[in-house]
Amino acid sequence: AASDHPDIEKVLISEEEIRDRLSVLGKQISQAYEGEQVVVTAVLKGAFIVLADFARSLEVDTIFDFMAVSSYGASTKSSGVVRILKDLDVEIEGRHVLIVEDIVDSGLTLSYLLKNLRARGPKSVEVMALLVKPDAAKVDIGVKWTGFEVPNEFVVGYGLDYDERYRNLPYIGTLKPEVYS
Ligand code: PRP
Ligand code: MN
Ligand code: MG
Repeated sequence: AASDHPDIEKVLISEEEIRDRLSVLGKQISQAYEGEQVVVTAVLKGAFIVLADFARSLEVDTIFDFMAVSSYGASTKSSGVVRILKDLDVEIEGRHVLIVEDIVDSGLTLSYLLKNLRARGPKSVEVMALLVKPDAAKVDIGVKWTGFEVPNEFVVGYGLDYDERYRNLPYIGTLKPEVYS
């Protein structure tokens, strides 16, 4: 079964639901950037699976680049400190940038990234996030493209980890409480 991992309590979003949603977003986003070039910037590590799947539905002139930031570490709570572990390779001045995230939770990571990238003089910066949590609405980020809204529970899979584990699960799910202890 889809949830046959022994640590998973519940599957919130299935593999198929994610695939369908990403293909719709891919089409919408391709239309939005029609005739333009866009620097698609994935936020590592969490966004690596979303990016790989979403990339194949993009039909525009695309450059891919990566940033690695971390604020959570081995915890289910944000540390409040965002660190850049790897910066972009390309210059984004005068270019369209699309940030791809797996999840916007407190919004702290994205707020920091948006401020950082906007200071480099891009033509535009927009965000695509597979998952958005309710708290994200409190910070004024403006995620232009969202896959799904998820409740305030800690979720794993499809790139999302708990202490670096479970990123490989093909669905989004919650962990059994005993896994945290
Ligand atoms: C997770 C997730 C987002 C961020 C969202 O990354 O992938 O990047 O937290 O949380 P926020 O909105 O509260 O800032 P994490 O820091 O765990 O690093 P990872 O992507 O390497 O797992
Ligand atoms: Mn992340
Ligand atoms: Mg993480």
